[in-house]
Formats: sequence, C-alpha cells, structure tokens
Amino acid sequence: MPAPVIKILETPEEMTAVEELQRQVWHGSETDVVPAHVFIAAIHNGGIVAGAYLENRLIGFVFGFPGIEKTPDGPRPKHCSHMLGIHPDHRDGGIGFALKRAQWQIVRHQGLDHITWTYDPLLSRNAYLNIAKLGAVCNTYRRAEYGDMRDGLNAGLPSDRFQVDWWINTRRVERRLGKRVRKPLNLDHFSQAELQPLYAPHASTGNLPRPPEHFSPLEGKLALAEIPSDFNALKEKDFALARDWRFFTREVFETAFSAGYIVTDFVNDHGGSFYVFSNGETTLQ
Ligand SMILES: CC(C)(COP(=O)(O)OP(=O)(O)OC[C@H]1O[C@@H](n2cnc3c(N)ncnc32)[C@H](O)[C@@H]1OP(=O)(O)O)[C@@H](O)C(=O)NCCC(=O)NCCS
Repeated sequence: MPAPVIKILETPEEMTAVEELQRQVWHGSETDVVPAHVFIAAIHNGGIVAGAYLENRLIGFVFGFPGIEKTPDGPRPKHCSHMLGIHPDHRDGGIGFALKRAQWQIVRHQGLDHITWTYDPLLSRNAYLNIAKLGAVCNTYRRAEYGDMRDGLNAGLPSDRFQVDWWINTRRVERRLGKRVRKPLNLDHFSQAELQPLYAPHASTGNLPRPPEHFSPLEGKLALAEIPSDFNALKEKDFALARDWRFFTREVFETAFSAGYIVTDFVNDHGGSFYVFSNGETTLQ
C-alpha cells in the first residue's frame, strides 16, 4: 500500500469530506457529525484539522482545539484533541499514529507542551495506540463523560473515559515518536519487576472473557489490569457482559488512580491485552 499523504486541512470543501468520513467511522447518528463550520471556526482560532489521503481520497483525520486547564498555579493553555478517525478499511496501517505525529509537530510549533484527549479504556486498539505507541499517560477516570451517546460505536453503554496526558516535549514521547521504532513489549519484559496481576478473567460460555467478582488489593510498584482484546466484538455478542466489564474496570481503574497509580504502558501478549499501572512516579511527565 502506498504511504498516505498527511495534510493540514483548511478549506470548506476539505471539511465537507471530513463530515462524510465521520459518517463512515461513527456510523448511525447524524446529530453527532461535527459540521464543517465548526471545524472552520476552530481552525481560525488555533484549532487543527489534519487529514490522511490515499490516492486523493480522505481516509483519516484528527481534530483538536486550544484549551485551558486548571492547575494549582492558575489557568494554563493546552491543546484538546477531540477526534481521531480512520476509515474502517484502512485501520492498523499506522495512519492513526501518523496523524497524531503531525498533530504533535504542529502543537509543539504553537508553543504548547500538553495535549489531552479522552478514549474508552476498554478499547484495546485505542489503548495500544495512545499509551504504548504515543507514550501518553493517564491517571484520570471520568464516569459517563459524554452522557448517553447515540453513535453506532458507543450507544447503550455508560460513556466512561480515560483522559490521557500527552506531555509532548518529554523524552518519553520524543522517543516513542522518533525514527527508531520501539519494539513492542511483552509481559516477560516486566518479569524482573515486581509485577502484580490484579485479577484473571474467567472464560464465559461462548469463550468470551468474563470479569471476576473481585481484584487483589493494590500494592507494589507495578500492577497489571487485563481488558478484553476486542471489546466491540464482545459487546455485539453479549451486551450484558460488556456492561459487566464497564462496571468492573470502572472500580479497578478508580481504585488504582486514587491509590496514586498511573497508567504508563499497555501490552498485547499471550492473546491478552493489559494495562500497566506504575506507582511511585514523581511526575506524570
Ligand atoms: C482508534 C483508531 C483511530 C486507530 O487508528 P489506526 O490507524 O488503526 O491506528 P494505528 O495503525 O496507528 O495503531 C493501531 C495499533 O493497534 C494495534 N492493534 C490493532 N488491534 C488491536 C487490539 N485489538 N488490541 C490491541 N492493539 C491492537 C495495531 O496492530 C497497531 O499497532 P502496530 O502499529 O504496532 O501494529 C481507529 O481504529 C479508529 O478510527 N477507530 C474508530 C474511532 C475511534 O475509536 N477513534 C478514537 C477515539 S475519538
């Protein structure tokens, strides 16, 4: 496959193509399509829309706008990344990564050092991209962040989200985005460390993973929390089970964050998908 061309989008015609792409990514709710005029207003005020083109066809985009965060030292500017969408026929080819990389370069150029965004922590592909490949970290869990969502990917489940922090001037992030690609980690890489699996899912009927009743108390420097490797497929097959996963992991993640743990890595191994929580980090950066 030829490499896609990444472009900053600016014109009303380009934004109309982004409207159309949204319908293919988050099918099902016309109300949730962000219209061209909102993109135009945002980009005239420091917002960024970048697109990935293959043979002149838009197949992916990323959208974000400047934001303000509250800190103990007062309000501080940041970039709020709100949407990243790749056409279903073009996923897992590094296009999401390439678009975030473009966003990283542009936002650095604007003089900002922090990008945040939210994602559903049960989506392992998103987790792998955000945490393992891009080097974002997380210690913020938001229950039902967007209320009841209507689009085809989200309808029917509480819209709980991780809010991730992407400290874009740090060595951690620069190394992940550098030319030398990091080899994917597996669980053995952590075997020297004091690694604590918080629970092991059971196999349910139909061979879908089912969360256990309880998880171990959090102690030690590193903890592992497993999530389903394909939550969307699980949700389609057994919606009640998907809800169980939402409520179980809500408790695990909230407990870990309030105990001072931070999500610092994500590992796909032995057919499973695992968050790595670290304790004792002095800074999120
Ligand atoms: C999430 C999304 C933006 C990712 O885009 P993408 O172009 O597929 O991402 P990339 O190819 O750069 O990275 C995905 C990585 O996840 C890996 N992956 C794929 N399926 C996975 C899974 N089930 N579990 C864990 N990792 C997975 C891929 O192998 C790839 O890693 P690699 O490059 O090391 O092989 C895209 O899937 C999408 O549009 N999803 C629907 C909309 C959405 O969720 N948007 C984000 C929230 S607003």
